[in-house]
Amino acid sequence: MQIRVPNQPLRSVEADLAVLGIPGEDALEATLRAADPDHADDWLAAARAEEFKAKAGTALALPSFGRWKAPRILLVGTGEGSAQDLRLAAGKAGFEARNRGASTVALALGELDEAAATEVIVAFGTGNYRFDRYKAEDQRKAAAGTLLLVGGPDGDPAVARAILAGVTLARDLVNEPAAEIYPETLAARAEELAGDGLTVEVWDADRIREAGMGGITAVGQGSAKPARFIHMTWKPEGEPRARLALVGKGVTFDAGGLSLKPSSGMQTMRCDMAGGAAVIGAMRAIRDLRPDVEVHGIVGAVENMNAADSYKLGDILHMYNGKRVEIHNTDAEGRLVLADCLAYASELGVDAVVDAATLTGACVVALGDHYSGLFTDDDALAGKLEAAAEAAGEYLWRMPLPDWYKEQLKAEWGDIKNVGSRWGGAITAALFLREFVDGPAWAHVDIAGPAFLEKPWRHFAAGGTGALVPTLVRWITGA
Ligand code: BES
Ligand code: MN
Ligand code: ZN
Repeated sequence: MQIRVPNQPLRSVEADLAVLGIPGEDALEATLRAADPDHADDWLAAARAEEFKAKAGTALALPSFGRWKAPRILLVGTGEGSAQDLRLAAGKAGFEARNRGASTVALALGELDEAAATEVIVAFGTGNYRFDRYKAEDQRKAAAGTLLLVGGPDGDPAVARAILAGVTLARDLVNEPAAEIYPETLAARAEELAGDGLTVEVWDADRIREAGMGGITAVGQGSAKPARFIHMTWKPEGEPRARLALVGKGVTFDAGGLSLKPSSGMQTMRCDMAGGAAVIGAMRAIRDLRPDVEVHGIVGAVENMNAADSYKLGDILHMYNGKRVEIHNTDAEGRLVLADCLAYASELGVDAVVDAATLTGACVVALGDHYSGLFTDDDALAGKLEAAAEAAGEYLWRMPLPDWYKEQLKAEWGDIKNVGSRWGGAITAALFLREFVDGPAWAHVDIAGPAFLEKPWRHFAAGGTGALVPTLVRWITGA
């Protein structure tokens, strides 16, 4: 998507759709008069007849009758003009533009500074996204090719462009069926990003086993699609200001293994690589933004299947850090994959590691569909991630990590069981992961709720959301 700042008033901008932000019902008349002094009474009458209240994120479409350069006008409410209101408005504009197949969109949401423009562009692109490549051609609508940001700041919106590209990549990877994105193809998509200072190393299943990654090996062995271990590295030119690692759960399909899921629970389990997709999407943005921070992006990619070779209940896995895990449920597979990745990340000499995973249904029970759970012992890291999420408009909620809940993971034969009791399942999963981190500060983000939408919500289409990409990019780049 091209982004430009025109220097004409909205009504004179050549576009398929002209979007005018209205900061609340009281501002309707004044805003319309400023936008089009000659015809404001007509627009106002139409808006009143349709009972348009200009609440943030609501919209009213009107024909322009040739009075404006664009054939169609969209009024969108921008509420109080907070960052969140602007996101809702821009997102709605993107969503409606896509419904109409508008390829050039002029968007006027008031005077925007750089920070506000970033949010507006990312939200517009997010709302404009649809995964329709498997729809019949005549059922598809064009995405916006050009965004003309009236009232935007000068300069290249590099941060917005990078975040949006990362989010879009993550959504595509999640939305693709598991028949298309499996460990090998996920790794290939990561490898495509190599260059411009980003390196990508991929290990095959033999190499993973030889390295001693018993968790990834066990979960992956029941699938005809062999596991892959992906290690992406961004190294800045000078001495890095910090060294960080991102770790993602890349379960490209989670059938549950022998602890088989019911069909209802399995339906959307192509989304179980969303943490890995978030890491790959964030690394893409980091490659584009070139921060003076060393960043490692690590993804354990496997398919958790039910087959003759599947790992079994009662198995004892020998993990990368030497610990032995006693298997009590093969559907608690993500933590086994992450455990090896976290132990590996611990060897890289990084200051901090953050993992992202669609780890537990329990986290969705606790926080609902739109909050991710944040688990860490490190208050400073928690504060930074919370601030990054706030700046990015994502919902992150810190959860407790009580040491004494570890009681639930006590094993009879190994060092630790892979599941606790039913209660507090998101917490015991996080406590399990902590056992595999040695050295760096660590935070775990359970994105099981926000990573995938069963139906559209706000300006998000159903499916993958790119959850956590904006937060991770902001955390790392300080953007
Ligand atoms: N991938 C699932 C968690 C999940 C559930 C993600 C719903 C997104 C939506 C994970 O591998 C899993 O199966 N977790 C189990 C853990 C249990 C066996 C301890 C769960 O949540 O039921
Ligand atoms: Mn599972
Ligand atoms: Zn899973």
